[in-house]
Amino acid sequence: MSEPLSSRLATPADIPALKVLMERSISLLLPAFLSPEEVTASHEVMGLDTQLIADGTYFVIEAGGAIAGCGGWSRRATLFGGDHTSGRDAALLDPATEAARVRAMYTDPDFTRRGVGRLILSLCEERAAAEGFKSCEMAATMGGEPLYTACGYHRIEPFEAETSSGVRVPLVRMGKAL
Ligand SMILES: CC(C)(COP(=O)(O)OP(=O)(O)OC[C@H]1O[C@@H](n2cnc3c(N)ncnc32)[C@H](O)[C@@H]1OP(=O)(O)O)[C@@H](O)C(=O)NCCC(=O)NCCS
Repeated sequence: MSEPLSSRLATPADIPALKVLMERSISLLLPAFLSPEEVTASHEVMGLDTQLIADGTYFVIEAGGAIAGCGGWSRRATLFGGDHTSGRDAALLDPATEAARVRAMYTDPDFTRRGVGRLILSLCEERAAAEGFKSCEMAATMGGEPLYTACGYHRIEPFEAETSSGVRVPLVRMGKAL
C-alpha cells in the first residue's frame, strides 16, 4: 500500500538530494513529451532555485521517509529556471496586481501519479492567497501542463526558452485565479 504523503519546508540541507531528484525527474519523465535534444536542453532552463528555499516558499513532499517530490511558489518576478538559468529577476511582486509564481515542481519518477504535484500546488495556492495574491502563474513544461490543466490552470501563452546549444525548449505560461 502507498505510504501517506507529508509536507514540510525545504532547508539548505535538502539541496544535494533535491538536485538528484530534479535530474532524475527531468531525464526520466520529460522524454514522453520532448525530443532527446529538448530534454538535454531542458536542464539549462530548469532546476533548483535556492532563493525559494531562502524565502521559505519551497516544499518537500515525503512518503515513508523518502523524498517524493518538491516544488514551491514565489513572491518574486522570476518565472522559471534554476540558479544557473539566465534572465532572473528577484524583484518583489505586488500581490494586488501581479500573479504569484508557481516554481520548480518535480516529482520523483518512483512517485508519479500519487498526488504529489497536486498537493504541492494546493500548498502554494494556499500560501500565496494568504499573502494577498489573487492569482498564480507559471511557465509550464510540456510534462507539467497536464497537471496544471487538471488543477484548473488555463493556457495564457506558449513560448520557447532559448538555450546555449541553440535548441529551443517549448513552454507555456499558464495561470489561475485564486
Ligand atoms: C509534472 C509533475 C510534477 C506531475 O507530478 P505528479 O506528482 O505525478 O502529479 P499528480 O500525481 O499530482 O497528478 C495530478 C493529476 O495531474 C494529471 N497528470 C499528472 N501527470 C500526468 C501525465 N504524465 N499525463 C497526464 N496527466 C497527468 C492527472 O490528471 C493527475 O491526476 P490522476 O493521476 O488522478 O489522473 C511530474 O510529472 C514531473 O516531475 N515532471 C517532470 C518535471 C517537470 O516537467 N515539472 C514541471 C515543471 S513546470
